[in-house]
Formats: sequence, C-alpha cells, structure tokens
Amino acid sequence: METSIARQVSPAPRPTLIDDEHSVTGIVQAAMADTADPRLRQVMDALVRHLHGFVREVRLTDEEFEFAMGWLASLGHATHATHNEVVLAADVLGLSTLVTVMNNSTRDGRTPGALLGPFYRANAPRYACGDCVVQDDAPGLPLLVSGTVRGTDGTPLAGALVEVWQASPVGLYDNQDPTQPDRNLRGCFHTDADGGYRFRTVRPAGYPVPTDGPVGALLAAQQRHPYRPAHIHFIVAAPGYRTLVTQVFADEADKLASDVTFGVHRQLVGTLQLHDQGRSPWGEVPAPFYTLDFDFTLEPGQQTFPKPPID
Ligand code: BEZ
Ligand code: FE
Repeated sequence: METSIARQVSPAPRPTLIDDEHSVTGIVQAAMADTADPRLRQVMDALVRHLHGFVREVRLTDEEFEFAMGWLASLGHATHATHNEVVLAADVLGLSTLVTVMNNSTRDGRTPGALLGPFYRANAPRYACGDCVVQDDAPGLPLLVSGTVRGTDGTPLAGALVEVWQASPVGLYDNQDPTQPDRNLRGCFHTDADGGYRFRTVRPAGYPVPTDGPVGALLAAQQRHPYRPAHIHFIVAAPGYRTLVTQVFADEADKLASDVTFGVHRQLVGTLQLHDQGRSPWGEVPAPFYTLDFDFTLEPGQQTFPKPPID
C-alpha cells in the first residue's frame, strides 16, 4: 500500500557540517525546519535566506559586522518609555512605510494609510463639529479643515470618529513642549448626518525626528536631513469599517518630496488654500486663514483602535 511504502522512505539527511560559505545557509534553514508554527517557519526561513544573501553580496567584514551589532544594540539602549529608537530606525529605512503601504490597499478608492507615529496619545479632548483644537494663543495662521467620510460604496458615514493630532506652528507636539497645554492640537470629532466633519486648528509646521541617538548618526553619515513635512494625523473609524490610520500633508510643505520616514503617499497630499481676504465659510475667522478640504473613504471590515505608543 502506498502509505506503508511512504513510511519506509527515510527523510533525506539534513546537512550539518560546513564546507564553505554557501553551505552555511542551508544548514541554518535545516536546523529551523521543524518549527511548529508554519508562519514562523516561513518568515524565519526567508529571513535567513535574505540575511545570508545580503552578507554574501556586500562581503561584510568582521569589523563591519561588529559595528552593525553595536549599532543595533545601541538602538535598544536609546529606547525608553517615551522614545523608541528601534521603531525610528525602521522608519528612516522605509520599512515602516513599506509595511503600512502593503497592508493598506487603496482598492475601490480607499484612502491610503500612513504611520501612526510616536506622538499618538489616548484621551484626546472630545469636541463638537466645527470646534477649535487650539488651546493656547501661540501665533500661527488659522486652518479650517473639513471633509466627508464615506464607505467604499460611496455611502456617507454619519457618526464616524475623526481623531486628529498635529505639531504646533513651531513643529512641536504638546508632549514635547512645556509651553503648550496638555493635549493641545488634539481632538476627537464625530461626523454629522451627512458624513461631514470639520474642525479649526493652526497650520502645522514640519519637524525633525530625534537626531541625538544612533539613527541620527546614520542620517548624518548618509547626508540626509531629519525632517518630516507638515502634516495632520487622522484616525477615522466607524463600526463595520476597517479603521483608517493616516496623515494628510500640506501641499506646499517644505521637504514634501524628501520625508525622512518616506511617508508621503501621493493621495495624502491635501491642498492648503490661503485666503488673504474675506471671512471664513464657518468658524468666524478673519483673514488671513487657510482651508483644507479632505475626504476619507473606509472599506468594510473590523473597527479597531491603535495602542498609543506614549501616555
Ligand atoms: C510622526 O508622524 O509623528 C512620526 C512618524 C515617524 C517618526 C517620527 C514622527
Ligand atoms: Fe507627526
């Protein structure tokens, strides 16, 4: 019978001893071949294949390997409760954005996703439609943001959550700047019966990622600037829809085409229109002010909420 014949065939012996640089990879893969979890087996097998291939391609020297291990360890040492240098390293290598783009399809007009980033905090103030998220009187040009939240079938989503956070006109989040009130420039809104949202803020500025650690040293060695272009973070969520975590970028922002975290998806560039005369369409704001109209499209799926990386 076929099964008993199959039982008699002994498996091919696993390679165990190294003959040359090429035999190492197969021996390592064979050692991991009994991993019970099939996804872990697949991921680790590919990781070893690519890592070993990379080392052979660049002919990594002993000194370079030692340096690289030290750099990786220093990422951990520079990581603490309010800063994650490991994630920052993934960000400036484009890894975080690659994972985000890969896992956020734009099929059927869905709005692209973008990084949650390290500055998302829970417990943002809850505001009514049209309210202002600015809690201080620091200077900055007013910005009126509005739009509609829809499903991929075009249905406007009433009662959807629109949560926003941004840096100030000097490029600092509230938790980085002792002069700002707690949870300044953050807010939770809900869409009206037509799926519309609107809020008032100030035009954000771009800002640098931290450069005092090993990631900063890498950026300097690569002659790269550390800046992100001006943006507003959004979480848009509704029951029965996949939660959208994204960012909207100012079209005239400095460094738009060279974001240090590679986060600027073409479809996430919004038009900031400067009005230097007349009155605002809502909010009673005297000129000069900016407006930004940006719609969001969610796909059916599960509503989830991200875990804040900081308090
Ligand atoms: C942010 O968008 O807030 C951000 C993302 C990645 C690194 C640093 C900041
Ligand atoms: Fe940000």
